[in-house]
Amino acid sequence: MPNIAFVSGKWSAISAAKVSVEDRGFQFGDGIYELIRTYGDRVFHLHEHLSRLEASAKEIEITLPYSAAQLEKIIRLGCRKSGYTDTKIYIQVTRGTAPRLHSFPKKVTPTVVMTFRAFEPLPVKLREEGVAIISTPDIRWARCNVKSLNLLPNVMAREQALRSGAFEAVFIRDGKVTEGAGSNLFAVIGKKIITPPAGPYILCGITREVVLQLAKKNGLEIMEKDLKLPQLYSAQELFLTGTTVEVLPVIRLNGRAIGAGRPGEKTAFLYRVFQQQQMT
Ligand code: PDD
Repeated sequence: MPNIAFVSGKWSAISAAKVSVEDRGFQFGDGIYELIRTYGDRVFHLHEHLSRLEASAKEIEITLPYSAAQLEKIIRLGCRKSGYTDTKIYIQVTRGTAPRLHSFPKKVTPTVVMTFRAFEPLPVKLREEGVAIISTPDIRWARCNVKSLNLLPNVMAREQALRSGAFEAVFIRDGKVTEGAGSNLFAVIGKKIITPPAGPYILCGITREVVLQLAKKNGLEIMEKDLKLPQLYSAQELFLTGTTVEVLPVIRLNGRAIGAGRPGEKTAFLYRVFQQQQMT
C-alpha cells in the first residue's frame, strides 16, 4: 500500500481515506499545512518544518493534537510503510469537524491528515534550460507567513502562469515583489543576491533559509531586501526556491529574457551546493 494516508490515527490507502463533509478545512479552508520531502532516508529539515507547522497553528489558534515528537514518529512510520526512496509528505491540520458556523466551535478536535507518495523530481530539461515566470498582483491576505489552506489566489495565479506558457507566477504587492505562488524568488543583481524580506507578506520557505545559509557559508553576498519589478527585468539571474523546485533557474519574466536568457552561474553554483548538502 504505497500511497498511504494517516487520518487522525487511522492508516489506509489514500484512495480509502476519509474526512467528514463538515470538516472545517473542507468548508472554510480553516487549517494549515506543510509539504515535506525526503532525500532517501533523510527527511529534509523536518524540525524546521514542524516548527513552522506549530507557528502556523498558533497564528490561527489551533492547538495541535500531537507533539512535535509524536508527529515525527508518525511521519517516519509513514515513510517506512510507503516504502519510497524519496517521499512526498503532505501534512494538513484543520480546526476539526463541526456544524457550519464561522466562529470557532467550542469543543472540537483538530483533524490531522497526512499523505505519503513518491516524490517526483522536476524534469531535468527544466533545470537545464530554466523556466519562464509571469508577474501577477498579490491579492492574498496580509498573513502569508501562515501556511494556510486558503490557497485560492495561489491556485489562480499558478493556472494563469501555466496558461501563458510559464512555470510559475510571482506576486507583486504595492509595487514590491513578494514570492511565487508556491516558491520564493531570488534575484542576482550585480554582485548581490537578493530575496524579499521575511514578514507577513511571504511564506518563509525552508528552502529559502537553507539557500541563504549556504550562500553565506560559501562567501556569496546575499541579503533580504525589497525588490521591485523593474529590478527583476535588469537582474543577471533569477531563481526560485522551494521543496518541489529546490533551486530552479528562471530565464524569462513576462516574456522578457533575464540576463543572457539562460541559467546563470550563481544559480547553478547554489543548486550544486544544495544537492551536495543533501547527499552528505
Ligand atoms: N509550497 N512560498 C509559498 C507561497 C509556498 O507555497 C511555498 C511552498 C514556498 C517555499 O517553501 P518551502 O521551501 O518551505 O517549500 C514559498 C509548497 C511546496 C506547496 O504548497 O506545495
